[in-house]
Amino acid sequence: MQALDMTPDEALAAMVSPEGSQNPYPFYEEIRRHGNLVEVRPGMLVAVGYEECLKVLREPRLRVQDAAAYDRTFPGWRRHSSLRSFANSMLYTNPPGHIPMRRMVGEAFTARRIEALRGTVGRMVDELLERFADLGSGGEPVDFMHEFAFRLPVAVISDMLGVPEKDQVWFREVAADVMIALEGITDDEGLAPANTATDQLSAYFAPIIAERRRNPGDDVIGTLVRIHAEDSDRFNEEELIGNLVLLLTAGFDTTTHLLGHGLLQSLRRPELGDRLRLEPELAAGYVEEALRFEPPVQATTRWAAADVDLMGHKVEAGTKVLVILAAGNRDPRRYARPHVFDPDRVDVRPLSFAGGVHICVGAPLARLEAQIALPRVLTRFPALALAGTPTYRPRWLARGNDRLPVTTG
Ligand code: HEM
Repeated sequence: MQALDMTPDEALAAMVSPEGSQNPYPFYEEIRRHGNLVEVRPGMLVAVGYEECLKVLREPRLRVQDAAAYDRTFPGWRRHSSLRSFANSMLYTNPPGHIPMRRMVGEAFTARRIEALRGTVGRMVDELLERFADLGSGGEPVDFMHEFAFRLPVAVISDMLGVPEKDQVWFREVAADVMIALEGITDDEGLAPANTATDQLSAYFAPIIAERRRNPGDDVIGTLVRIHAEDSDRFNEEELIGNLVLLLTAGFDTTTHLLGHGLLQSLRRPELGDRLRLEPELAAGYVEEALRFEPPVQATTRWAAADVDLMGHKVEAGTKVLVILAAGNRDPRRYARPHVFDPDRVDVRPLSFAGGVHICVGAPLARLEAQIALPRVLTRFPALALAGTPTYRPRWLARGNDRLPVTTG
């Protein structure tokens, strides 16, 4: 990649610009030219190296932005129900409060429960592909994102949470609005849709939780309610709902874009698609490389709760550390030819689900969906081809294609 001679600060600004949202990778390389852990300005560090990202994520004194941190940095944040909901969830809670929440969800998302979904996910994929075939039968381009990639994750998580099919379209829309709260927006107008959506989802879950208390079932909500009852002195009802909202929303957008990024590579290089058609058992390696190459969540943030010595850097309490997972995944010290998509790579361990205590709960589910879906899509449509140039939506953190038009052949 050609050097652009930017300062780290300029590269950070460029990465979140409209140009950066189409292709942020050259700007990560600009930061890397200054080091793998760079002090961009006093009080702000950026990690772009693989080991550096891992180190930050695993350091207990580097913590997620919790309610106490919000109180210090954003007076008035409690007016926003979307931020309150995330602050009530495990994503924005540090240990020790994080521990019982994680235990609750860990028991509901066991490896056995995820593996048992294999048949259901396969059936859902096939049903969606039948519909997709109908839409494309006249030779018209069909948008893979809207007609498949957005639909599968919502169908799967709704099934797991016991949400009826009739609510799924509404679910998809409110989940997308809830996620706006994770984009670092602080103004009333920007947060309004996230607040409305959070209120709607919380109101939706309250009677379901009450019903499961009376008649506990063994679906995910039933399991969460049962475990919460055992631990209710350690976290309250609002926190239970905050975690449910998180579970419902965190897995949509992200898995959707893993499907989009994964398919796009095979459309750009048809020989890759042909191999997956012939050898669907290669899907696991293919999906890991898709995660490495184009992480749906490009970065995360931590705050230093105390002074920390981090790989030779003296990090003062209060410092913000931006962990660019997507840059760590392309660290040339960790992966040869990092900017090449190569599903034959060995020892691929992407940072895309982060690490440390907040490592993604849904990683096995996202992997399962992509490993089942990608070979089936390609096999169902042997002549699947790109119809036009795919564009990326104008968002940096949650990177994904807004449209991926294809013809089914
Ligand atoms: C390709 C798909 C996915 C990606 C790339 C992804 C990415 C991530 C990342 C980067 C984090 C850590 C954030 C941080 O440390 O600051 C995270 C946490 C989390 N993810 Fe995912 N995720 C995906 C799918 C899912 C799914 C399917 C679910 C649920 C069904 C889910 C639920 C969660 C939850 C609950 C957390 C919070 C864990 C904690 O704070 O302890 N994710 N995810």
